[in-house]
Amino acid sequence: MKTRNNRLLSISAAMAVVALTACGAASTPQPTAAPTSASSATAEPARPSNPGGPGAAVNLTGDATKGAQIFVDNCKKCHGDAGKGGINNPGSTDGTIPPLNPIDDTLVSKDPKVYATNLDLFLEHGSTPAGSSPKEKMPAFGDEKKLQPQQIADVIAYVMSLNK
Ligand code: HEC
Repeated sequence: MKTRNNRLLSISAAMAVVALTACGAASTPQPTAAPTSASSATAEPARPSNPGGPGAAVNLTGDATKGAQIFVDNCKKCHGDAGKGGINNPGSTDGTIPPLNPIDDTLVSKDPKVYATNLDLFLEHGSTPAGSSPKEKMPAFGDEKKLQPQQIADVIAYVMSLNK
C-alpha cells in the first residue's frame, strides 16, 4: 500500500556565504557546514492504493463541527468513535483498520493545505490495504459521489481537529 509518491521537495534556500578574507589574514576561513534541515526525517506520506489527484475539497474551507456529524454517519463504523480505531480487518496485513486519532504521522503536515490534501487523496479515491484479502477497504467517497466536496472538506477539518 501507500505507493504513490507525489512528494514536494522543499528546497531549503541555501545561503551562499561569501567569505571575505581580511587583508593579510593568516588563517583560511572555514566554510560553514551545509545547513541540515530541521525536520530532515520526513518519511514519504502514506498514499492510497488507488490513483488520482486532489479533489475540489482541498480548495474549500472545512467546518469541523459539521464534519463531526459526517464522521459519525460515514466513518465511525470503520475508524472507531472519534477516530480512535480498534476495528478489526481480517485478511489485511495490519489486522486492523488504521486509527485516525492519532493519525499516521506521515499524513500530518505543518502546511494545512498539504495536510488536507494528504487526507483528501484517501477520501476521493479510496484505498485497499495490503494483505491477501482485506475484508474492509477505504471507500472512494469522492469518486463514487458518496460525499460532496464540501462534506469532504468538513470531515477533513474534523479529522485534523482530532489530531491537534
Ligand atoms: C468500510 C470501512 C471504512 C470506512 C467507512 C471509512 N474508512 Fe477510511 N480507511 C479504511 C481502511 C481499511 C483504510 C486503510 C487503507 C490502506 O491501508 O490503504 C482507511 C484509510 C483511511 C485514511 C488513511 C489513514 C492511514 O493511516 O493510512 C484516512 C484519512 C481515512 N481512511 C479517512 C476516512 C474518513 C474521513 C472516512 C469517512 C468519511 C472513512 N475513512 C471511512 C476503511 C474505511
